Amino acid sequence: MDYQQRLPEIEALVRETFSLWDEQRVGFSWRHYYLNHSLRVRALALTLARQEGADPDVVAYAATLHDLTKRYDGALALDANGKRRLDRDGYWVTETLPPARANHVTALYDELGLAGQVHHLSGAALTERILAEAGYPRPFINAVAHAIRAHVTPQNATAAELEALYRPPEARVLHDADLMDANLGLVAFYRNIQIHAGRALAQTGAPLDPRAYIELVAPWVETKDPFLPRFRTATGQAMAAARQERNRQLVAWIAVEQPLGEPAWHYGVLGVITLFLEEPEDPSLTRALQHLQTEWLPARRAELARDGRAPHAAALLARAEQFADLLRDEVAGRI
Ligand SMILES: [Fe+2]
Ligand SMILES: [Fe+2]
Repeated sequence: MDYQQRLPEIEALVRETFSLWDEQRVGFSWRHYYLNHSLRVRALALTLARQEGADPDVVAYAATLHDLTKRYDGALALDANGKRRLDRDGYWVTETLPPARANHVTALYDELGLAGQVHHLSGAALTERILAEAGYPRPFINAVAHAIRAHVTPQNATAAELEALYRPPEARVLHDADLMDANLGLVAFYRNIQIHAGRALAQTGAPLDPRAYIELVAPWVETKDPFLPRFRTATGQAMAAARQERNRQLVAWIAVEQPLGEPAWHYGVLGVITLFLEEPEDPSLTRALQHLQTEWLPARRAELARDGRAPHAAALLARAEQFADLLRDEVAGRI
């Protein structure tokens, strides 16, 4: 079977499924996050797979499908004391959010009675069924479903159970790519921006003030150090450490730009942060990066050419360019 040639069919099904809900923001996610995250995780997982000897076809399918049922996750369920409710296995329980429209995936979800299951298990069950219907070989299906099941680490598993779960390199690679995308590097920084932007929008109805947000970046980067030992591959550990270093660099850049005032908010990384905070209702990293590269940066290059004597402007813009290049390479799973 030509796995690569048939992957676009699977990707189209995932894309269609994510589009069946109309909610723009749910919890720590937003409408465009699901697909953008899945495609970034795939790119990164394929980079890790090359270094770790994992099967690239299993990894590509598992990454594409890993969050297939994630849009069913609604608000976190709370207990009588207002605390987040945990299930028997220690996972946060969420309300089930029904889609506004149906497709083959949602029909199977109902048929298999998957409502209420955690998304990595319901996603694995659906994947098995979808790939079997499409005639994929059983060992391939099992390997893909196993990696999807393992992408969230069980809370109460024994050491022996974990060893078995993460024995296949495909499972380790997908786990690491998923953990990395959400927590480390400039892609995770964008996620943090949007989490705060969404919270501000819900609480005040207004966009978040970028000057208030930048005070939160250094403490956020600190919270990510404990993630570094959780990576399961040597390549994942090295990339995670490099991304955390990149975010410390970002904190240093913000500290340099802050005293420069207005030019930094126009030409620098602070200007990029302002751009990212402009569409809090319906954000998209893919769209924002595209805009940054094709409109925001070229407009400022042209301005700088006319306004070359503005103090620090050239250095600020060079930094914004560097930020955009690094973000692009992370989105492509290269770094
Ligand atoms: Fe997930
Ligand atoms: Fe994920």
